[in-house]
Amino acid sequence: MLCATPSYHYYHVPPMSSVFAHRHLLDIERLSKADIEAILDLAARYAAQNRSANKTCDRLKGKAIINLFFEDSTRTRASFELAAKRLGADTVNIPVETSSIKKGETLLDTVLTLDAMQIDGIVMRHNEDGAPHFVAPHVKAHIINAGDGKNEHPTQALLDALTILRHKKKIDGLTVAICGDVAHSRVARSNAVLLAKLGAKVRLVAPPVFALPNFGNLNVECSDDMQKGLAGADVVMALRIQRERIGASEQKIDTDDYARAYRLDHTRIGAAKPDAIVMHPGPANRGVEITDELADDPERSVIREQVEMGVAVRMAVLDLLLSGQENGHGA
Ligand code: ASP
Ligand code: CP
Repeated sequence: MLCATPSYHYYHVPPMSSVFAHRHLLDIERLSKADIEAILDLAARYAAQNRSANKTCDRLKGKAIINLFFEDSTRTRASFELAAKRLGADTVNIPVETSSIKKGETLLDTVLTLDAMQIDGIVMRHNEDGAPHFVAPHVKAHIINAGDGKNEHPTQALLDALTILRHKKKIDGLTVAICGDVAHSRVARSNAVLLAKLGAKVRLVAPPVFALPNFGNLNVECSDDMQKGLAGADVVMALRIQRERIGASEQKIDTDDYARAYRLDHTRIGAAKPDAIVMHPGPANRGVEITDELADDPERSVIREQVEMGVAVRMAVLDLLLSGQENGHGA
């Protein structure tokens, strides 16, 4: 079993201190290509372990990890909790709705309060861009970003990369089309950064109303035309319209108009390569950004596999951050 081995050397993974010298996982932006590859390599091993009879081990025995989610989540929160438990850690979920945050406690006071309990990691989702970056310098615990506003969702991009690798065997040279509400999507941003670091060509396909303010500094192609945006793509990723992140002053889009022009279906996917895979980070709004038929097409859709890889990637991240003594430098 992977967890039971005393050293990474056995698996030909270089020692953690040289490959993953981060204290926190705040974003993809500050990870090197080698960091990303180290996470994906370990995650691939955990993915195999998760399909075996013995899924649990004591790699993080004695460690305590707190899930602090200020925004709704199904798969990220559940998979972080499962990942921690499979590594033998104790986990606590803070129900923000019934916590002292409702009595006016600040974000920083909340995090410092939890940190005072001698815990080891805080997995945090917040609606404000940069919230995990803000708290990280103040705590002893490792901070793991589970999605901050419109900024980043690093473990989503990592699990997406692992899923792509399982199907395409490489990322370098692939064309990945990310379609839909990219403007409000931290998934799109983390993926664009990660995929570019690993050598993929990224296309953002979105209606003009979802213009791309977050992507100004990234090397991506943009199109408002599904046919052109999907042409020859190896991977097509659909995104939900993230209405909860659309500001009051922003132009609204009619759901039916959007679906008519941008819903991913078997006809539109025909512009991509014949073996193109279809991805979605979830939750999907079926019938809006993707049809039932395509989302459930076992020949095309890898949506369930993305969820499965989420547990493995989060195990790898928690392992790399929390299991060693030497990864305490920088962010
Ligand atoms: N679940 C993803 C996120 O939290 C995508 C979405 O909500 O549409 O960013
Ligand atoms: N993909 C994703 O982050 O899903 P949840 O919002 O359900 O966690």
